Parts: sequence; structure tokens; C-alpha cells
Amino acid sequence: MEFQDVVRRRRMVRDYAETPVDPRIVDRALENATRAPSAGFSQGWAFLVLDRREDVDRFWRATTDVDNPDSWLTGMMRAPVVIIPCSSKAAYLDRYAEPDKGWTDRDESRWPMPFWHMDAAMASLLILQTAVDEGLGACFFGVFNEPAVRAEFGIPDRYDPVGVITMGHRTDSTGAAGSPRRRRRTPWTEVVHRGHWGNQQHQASPST
Ligand SMILES: Cc1cc2nc3c(=O)[nH]c(=O)nc-3n(C[C@H](O)[C@H](O)[C@H](O)COP(=O)(O)O)c2cc1C
Repeated sequence: MEFQDVVRRRRMVRDYAETPVDPRIVDRALENATRAPSAGFSQGWAFLVLDRREDVDRFWRATTDVDNPDSWLTGMMRAPVVIIPCSSKAAYLDRYAEPDKGWTDRDESRWPMPFWHMDAAMASLLILQTAVDEGLGACFFGVFNEPAVRAEFGIPDRYDPVGVITMGHRTDSTGAAGSPRRRRRTPWTEVVHRGHWGNQQHQASPST
């Protein structure tokens, strides 16, 4: 698929067929995730992959009321694959204490942003885009009950789940309505400030 089509077609999908996902696609998505950029090449990410039905079911049982599912949960629970991207702040503090960076005090106030979460988010987008490229659907959402997920799947303290990704074959429906049904996509020209914040970009520049 053309890159531009991957970008344009990506939507969060919240309803799935129960058809299994080819494990090679899951592996490709994970390998692509590790091509994401990372601060200092820290690569302080890790991915908990649940691709057996019993493990996926354990995830939903640990985090939701599976006996009273709403339409969101009904569609999402069918996804045969759940991936939990995690970030490790400790990995970044360790990396930046190395001689070429030199932040040996490990002072967190040095960090303008929590780069550990940013990098895991960039990796997550590559997983979503790989799903689109393979003709599958995927959805990123927040972790509901983090302590329960940690306990159920043995996620160590050094790692924090940044979210959850469901992946699977699409149905005719995209599932429970997401926010785009209630909100418009803000045109890029309304959020671009070229040269000075006071200059709003109301139309594409001639070069684009
Ligand atoms: C950090 C983050 C958290 C999100 N949390 C949820 C969530 O809890 N439930 C959900 O259905 N979608 C969630 N989404 C998906 C957004 O609703 C969705 O990306 C947004 O409405 C734009 O729609 P699109 O991705 O289909 O273009 C989340 C997305 C992000 C990036």
C-alpha cells in the first residue's frame, strides 16, 4: 500500500472478526515498532503481546466487567491480538548517564518531556500503521486498570504500560462510535504557525 494511503486510511477500529491474525503480521508490526526513533537511541520500550485467545480473555477479565459488555467492549474483546506497549523511564536515565550524554546525576528535571513515553507512542503508531498496511484494523486506547494488568502479566516496576493496542481483521463496521463522529478533523492549515505563532497558515504554501 502507498504510504499516503496508509496514513489516510488509518482509523481506530473497535470491532473485529474472530478470524486469527497471521503471526507474521504481528511480528512485522513489532519489528516495525522497533524502527521508531528514540531519544539517545535508548529504545526503552517493551511490548507485551497477547496473541492466544486465553491470554486475550485474561486481559479483558482483569480490566473490565466482561459479563456486562457495552458495544465498545463487545467489539474490542473479539480482537485476537492485544499488544501493550510499555516505556521504561529507568532505561532513559541509565542511557543518559552514559559518558557520551553525561547526565550522571539522573536528574529528571533535565528532561523537557517524558521522552520514554513519547518514544513508546511513536513505536505504537508504527504498529497501527502496519496493521493498516496489512489490511487489518487496530485501536490504541488507555490502560483501564494498570495494577491489575501488571499483576496478571508480570510487568516489572521498571516498565509502565503506555496504552493498549487491539489488532484484528475488520468487519463491515468500525465498531463503537469514536470521537470523530462527534468532532471534525481540524484542518492542518488551522494548526500551523509559519515563521511566528501569530501567523496562522490559512492555505497551503505554493511549494506543497
Ligand atoms: C493516547 C490515546 C488514548 C486513546 N484512548 C482511547 C480510549 O480509551 N478508547 C477509545 O475508544 N479510543 C481511544 N483513543 C482513540 C481516539 O479516540 C482516536 O484516535 C481519535 O478519536 C481520532 O480517531 P482516529 O484515530 O480513528 O482517526 C485514544 C487515542 C490516543 C492517541
